[in-house]
Amino acid sequence: MYEQQSHSLLNSILNRIEPEFEKQDLRYFYTRLGANFYAIHSLFEKIYGKRPDFAEQLLRLVETLARKYISRKPELRARDIAREQDYNWFLGQQWVGMALYSNGFAGNLQGVRKHLPYFQELGVNLVHIMPIMRCPEGKSDGGYAVSDFREIDPRAGTLEDVRELAADMRERDMLLVLDVVLNHTSDQHEWAVKARAGYSPYADYYFTFPTRNVPDMFEQSMPEVFPDTSPGNFTWNEEMQRWVMTVFNDYQWDLNYSNPAVFLEMLDIILFWANQGADILRLDAVAFLWKKIGSTCQNEREAHLILQLMKDCCQVTAPGVLFIAEAIVAPVEVIKYFGEDAVIAKECEIAYNATFMALMWDAVATRNAKLLNQGIRNLPVKLDQATWLNYIRCHDDIGLGIDDRDIVLAGYNPHEHRRFLIDFFTGEYPGSPARGLPFARNEKTGDTRISGSLASLAGLQHALDSGDAQAIDTAIRVVLLLHNLILSFGGIPLLYYGDEIGTVNDETYRSDPVKMDDSRWVHRPYIDWQRAARRNEPETPEYQIFTALKTMISARKELQAFADFNNRYLLEVSNPHLFVFERTNLFKSSDRVLVVSNFHTQPQKLSLDEVPGWGRNMSLVDAVGGQQPEHFDHTLVIPALGFYWLLER
Ligand code: GLC
Repeated sequence: MYEQQSHSLLNSILNRIEPEFEKQDLRYFYTRLGANFYAIHSLFEKIYGKRPDFAEQLLRLVETLARKYISRKPELRARDIAREQDYNWFLGQQWVGMALYSNGFAGNLQGVRKHLPYFQELGVNLVHIMPIMRCPEGKSDGGYAVSDFREIDPRAGTLEDVRELAADMRERDMLLVLDVVLNHTSDQHEWAVKARAGYSPYADYYFTFPTRNVPDMFEQSMPEVFPDTSPGNFTWNEEMQRWVMTVFNDYQWDLNYSNPAVFLEMLDIILFWANQGADILRLDAVAFLWKKIGSTCQNEREAHLILQLMKDCCQVTAPGVLFIAEAIVAPVEVIKYFGEDAVIAKECEIAYNATFMALMWDAVATRNAKLLNQGIRNLPVKLDQATWLNYIRCHDDIGLGIDDRDIVLAGYNPHEHRRFLIDFFTGEYPGSPARGLPFARNEKTGDTRISGSLASLAGLQHALDSGDAQAIDTAIRVVLLLHNLILSFGGIPLLYYGDEIGTVNDETYRSDPVKMDDSRWVHRPYIDWQRAARRNEPETPEYQIFTALKTMISARKELQAFADFNNRYLLEVSNPHLFVFERTNLFKSSDRVLVVSNFHTQPQKLSLDEVPGWGRNMSLVDAVGGQQPEHFDHTLVIPALGFYWLLER
């Protein structure tokens, strides 16, 4: 949009910075800056307009964008242009991801690079490497307490390793996802060190208070993230003689985004990682970016404005780079992280589908899909140019972030049902084969979250320990049933490293003082590559899981109806154990897939008369197995814990 006031301001900024940049070819930069400047200016003004140094800060912002554009490598610029042309590129069904810790997966970044063929063998072409930026030797919240945003932690490798990995992945048409921890820094970060020593600009990078008055005001409405290990949201700092806001662990200092200097630092860091070759940046803990007394300090309007501004800026310098919102919040709130509008108020193109994740686990525990159906029915429709990251497990705990109203509509009492789920997954419930652990038990609210690897939660650990062949088979079926859903639901499926070979809980964290208080380490494994080699030995669980996943992934890539264009239709069927939806290719309506999943441990029936458009006379074939589905008359029979991706032949 052309608007005179912002445009004349832009002209004056460009006049000031141009001499330095005049030998550069800035054509694309100028076009994009022109297109986005009105939005950038108005957002920046909304957030920081009252400050006397507003104009100076805006100049710094434009300078940051220009500098980072100039240092962006030609191959990355070329990729930006290609993605501008093919702007729906990330919605396609060809993308299949995996998240991993580089040290746990293969020692370090060079190890990850050596194992690129492993991903290709499985069909994974998007790899999210969890934090690799420098962090303290001791506790660092698994790398989420960063002490230097522009350096790689020596335990993971070097910047050169990242660039080489990114280049190698580009050659193989694979996408690299890296984390940027926006909300806080480690207390060892230079800014925190300087703030402690009393250097003035840095004190304003954080929230610190001389007395308990302001902290106590905040605490009245702020929940606790780690109530058992790091209660409260403030930590007393002896050196400063002040309370520091620390929403996560006491060594993670929350950044103060009401200070434009913080925004500009983080913008520069985002573009720095874009320029190292990352295709997608996972923006950590975005719900927490803005703090306001009297609120939960999550999902505040300003947090959204900050993200819109980040997106508008990134589109000027590195438009091919996407953002993932890590916002593990209620469905009505999550949806807002895509932005209000795909063009004028866009935020992140991708968001974690935590609700779907929690609902799938509910279906596993209850063996029915009542709440899953109910919850998905109420999942708000997202913007067109946005997509979900669908996952079963990740490095974090499982929070039962399911809407209480949905729990009631599914026929349960919310309190009792949550209690049941926790007992079920921690193996306390009679007959439960799950071997999860409680995480962040909150004595005040009664909340508990769950840790544990997929295989252990699905019963594989218990089954292997007891040597029960049938229980092993059941657990493997659960593992595959859940993967069937993330691969077909619509969005980018994100596998979690180790799950592809049925990795069970790793108890070694209990003897490590740095990790012992945080049960999430039980599901952050070190891959045993000798065990992984068993994926080639038929009859082993590793083989059964890996091979089945490989087949499903390659089937997914062939099904255009699985591309995510908001083209999923949930079908209401009378059998409560089934979760049934249809995916349709928007560009060819005859191209449809009927996805049927059975959460029960007995075969279940589905009458085709109940499924509109999938009539009696159709000849159906399962896209995964290539066979006709089992049926009797016009009733489909879905095997115990089985699923179909049905196509009309
Ligand atoms: C995110 C990360 C989690 C971390 C937290 C604080 O939620 O996924 O592992 O503990 O942010 O950085």
